[in-house]
Amino acid sequence: MSFHIPEEKINQILHTADIGEVVSQYVQLKKAGKDSAGLCPFHSEKTPSFTVSHGKQIFYCFGCGMGGNVYRFLMEYNGMTFVEAVRFLAGKYNIDIPEKSLSHEEETRISQRERLLSLNRQAADFFAANLNNSQVGRIASAYLEKRGISQNAIKSFGLGYAPDKWDRLLKYFSSKKVDPGQLEAAGLIISRKDSSGYYDRFRNRIIFPIIDAQMRVIGFGGRVMDDSLPKYLNTPETLLYHKSQSLYGMDIAKRKCRETRTVHVVEGYMDVIKLSQHGVENAVATLGTALTSDHVRLLNNFADRLVLVYDSDPAGIKAASRSADILAQASDARILATLPAGYDPDDYVSKFGPESFLDLAEKAPGIVSFMMDQAVAHHGLSVKGRVRIISEMKNVLSSIQDRIERGLYIKELAERIKVDEKAVLEVVYRKETEKRRSPDYGKSTFQPQIPAQLPTPIRDVVPQSGRINNSLSVGAGVSPFEDRHRMEKDIIAMMLQRPDIIPEIDRRNILALFINADLKAIGQSLVGHPDAPASDLFSDDGPKERVVAELVIMDYQWKEDGYMGLISQFESSHRRHENLRLQERIEAAENENNQQLLLELLKEKQIQASQGYA
Ligand code: CTP
Ligand code: MN
Repeated sequence: MSFHIPEEKINQILHTADIGEVVSQYVQLKKAGKDSAGLCPFHSEKTPSFTVSHGKQIFYCFGCGMGGNVYRFLMEYNGMTFVEAVRFLAGKYNIDIPEKSLSHEEETRISQRERLLSLNRQAADFFAANLNNSQVGRIASAYLEKRGISQNAIKSFGLGYAPDKWDRLLKYFSSKKVDPGQLEAAGLIISRKDSSGYYDRFRNRIIFPIIDAQMRVIGFGGRVMDDSLPKYLNTPETLLYHKSQSLYGMDIAKRKCRETRTVHVVEGYMDVIKLSQHGVENAVATLGTALTSDHVRLLNNFADRLVLVYDSDPAGIKAASRSADILAQASDARILATLPAGYDPDDYVSKFGPESFLDLAEKAPGIVSFMMDQAVAHHGLSVKGRVRIISEMKNVLSSIQDRIERGLYIKELAERIKVDEKAVLEVVYRKETEKRRSPDYGKSTFQPQIPAQLPTPIRDVVPQSGRINNSLSVGAGVSPFEDRHRMEKDIIAMMLQRPDIIPEIDRRNILALFINADLKAIGQSLVGHPDAPASDLFSDDGPKERVVAELVIMDYQWKEDGYMGLISQFESSHRRHENLRLQERIEAAENENNQQLLLELLKEKQIQASQGYA
């Protein structure tokens, strides 16, 4: 999205706002030395590891690694976009944002969105009032009661009722002099075929307003109260509502998601409401569509673990398998497919209670184990079966972004079906290359951390930046690379603390040797702006911002001449690394009997040796 606020305004607001003041509206902070600390709102914890540096105007959590400036805090905490966070602070600190730079077209689009949001909000109120009306809403109230929906849930989900007439909503709005064209654009009314007028889209249905994380009513779902069809009717695609990006219940679920770092993704409106009513508030539903990358990206802002709850019938399992590579974009995806046949989450939690549901969710297998189980059960271990299993698994395996994790799963699969690990590795690698060439590549959140030149051995992995607290990235026998990663971080920390050493780093071209792309980019931007305050760095790039926040807050102490030592140590470790890497590629080329590649690599080795590499 392009935004229209001038850069200097963004900086002015950033430098006027006080992060301590803003954060303490949401988090109870206690002074700890020159910083403040509190319980982290982004993961659940009992002792405070969430730190705010007043001097640097940055927050960072030692527990979960979340960090950044005050904009980032608002974006992560409130689910705001960057622009929304800027506007929010501008309002709070009374700073005017000039809006003139908007083009005419942009202006109409934005005001059109706002108009439709207002109509949706009014429509939601209209539907809710009908449900509350003891006459009009009598049957609907009885229906909801029969379904076991509590008064509390009716209120918090803003449920409503659309009367059994063709024009009630239309009349309601025409008394307010609203242009029917606008109502049509909001998806609330439909134009008659003979264009003689309009009629209400939702009639004689229970209404479920679809409210996003920013509490905006973006659309509606409507359910019949008998067996007529269609059972559910949803708002069509509008300027506000895109079903592939929208989730039902996000408004209610986000708090519990943040607290527990877990979200349950179910299929239906009723499932969300019933789970929530039983205390499982961290549930959302896709709306008559399979899970998409956009859904996962949205959920990643609120939770780490995503439990996809599907019916355990064959159709449900097939749907879950189809979602596998999308699911792999969540950091910890689980599939719950063990609800008894015929039960959806609504039925289950109503009959067996929330503890029982949460217990199943807790035990739900990860996506790869789930698919392995399915594939083995389905294809068996004959030669043909094993080939099919690999072919079925390659998509999900190539979608796993953490390369250590991927390597471990490949190993597990290879052992389980007794095939050579290298063979699996190669199939997966080929699938990845194929994906990368496809035009859709890059649209998803999946981004490989380093370009794969060869099927990558487990060892050859750079820990993913930003989220290096991933338990699989540490202690998995990756020490030389961990070591390098640590050194790269140290160098950047040094640059942030001691701008005077930046010219030396630049002169020795140290950044060119960095493996980690994020750290490298941070370093490069420091070379470009050695005096920029840390809170200005990368406020448009969450992962990088977290790294900067971490390094600034750590506040490492260096001996006066320690930094030169670190630089030379880094240079020699780089040489060792290059050497090791080349050696591995040579071995791989030998194993594959690739004579030409082998020759090239040996030539390279000669050059390295002549340059004094170990
Ligand atoms: N759905 C839809 N359009 C339909 C049917 C279903 O959009 N014609 C979506 C709705 O979001 C619905 C979900 O798919 O909630 C699951 O459908 P289903 O299992 O049929 O309904 P339930 O959610 O179980 O609803 P209920 O318990 O009220 O029957
Ligand atoms: Mn149901």
